[in-house]
Amino acid sequence: MTALPPDDPSCLDTLLRWRRDVRHFRPDPLPPETLDALLASACLAPSVGLSEPWRFCQVTSAARRRAIRDEFERCNAIATAGRGVDRNDYARLKLAGLDQAPHHVAVFSERDPAQGRGLGRMTMPETTVWSTMMAIHTFWLAATARGVGVGWVSILDPARVAACLDAPLAWEFVAYLCVGRPLERADTPELERRGWERRRPETARWHVI
Ligand SMILES: Cc1cc2nc3c(=O)[nH]c(=O)nc-3n(C[C@H](O)[C@H](O)[C@H](O)COP(=O)(O)O)c2cc1C
Repeated sequence: MTALPPDDPSCLDTLLRWRRDVRHFRPDPLPPETLDALLASACLAPSVGLSEPWRFCQVTSAARRRAIRDEFERCNAIATAGRGVDRNDYARLKLAGLDQAPHHVAVFSERDPAQGRGLGRMTMPETTVWSTMMAIHTFWLAATARGVGVGWVSILDPARVAACLDAPLAWEFVAYLCVGRPLERADTPELERRGWERRRPETARWHVI
């Protein structure tokens, strides 16, 4: 085990700045060791009561991947139809790399994990899902550090995804991730580059209460 290096946030800051939601992938698959390394890193995330409620699934069946893609198309068509004046802008956005990404990863959260013995979640049961979110973010950063892209797809109906993937009832769907080598690297979110939204300095200000 290597010792913790001396304080130097610059490397992490660079990683955070270059982490992107990726929607354009090269089709070549990653070596299995790389996927394993990403999962191992994700498992270093904090979790309520050390419950480790995350369940990462590789979706390899072509039929299941197609079903998820169809589900995305269905939900995105509803989302597009429900938009107002910005419908055309929305329709032009690319909101998933499901067709190109070599790997699909569905992430679930155990609803009531025995591990952790309930510590910390009596008043806030949602902390299990938040713990799973922490693991996803850690996975995302670990991927960025290895030149791997991750794209989060949430334009899906969770119940339909769970059914399509035959997930146990005890698991709650949290995220569907497209994973693979990105076509490009960027230090600015794609939604900003496409003029949809931008980062705002006011969100980086402290509220003092
Ligand atoms: C909970 C969550 C859900 C998201 N769902 C989608 C999605 O369905 N489609 C998509 O294109 N991006 C999705 N994103 C990615 C965001 O659009 C992206 O994080 C944001 O635009 C900032 O860009 P960046 O991640 O490259 O910094 C999601 C991100 C999060 C955290």
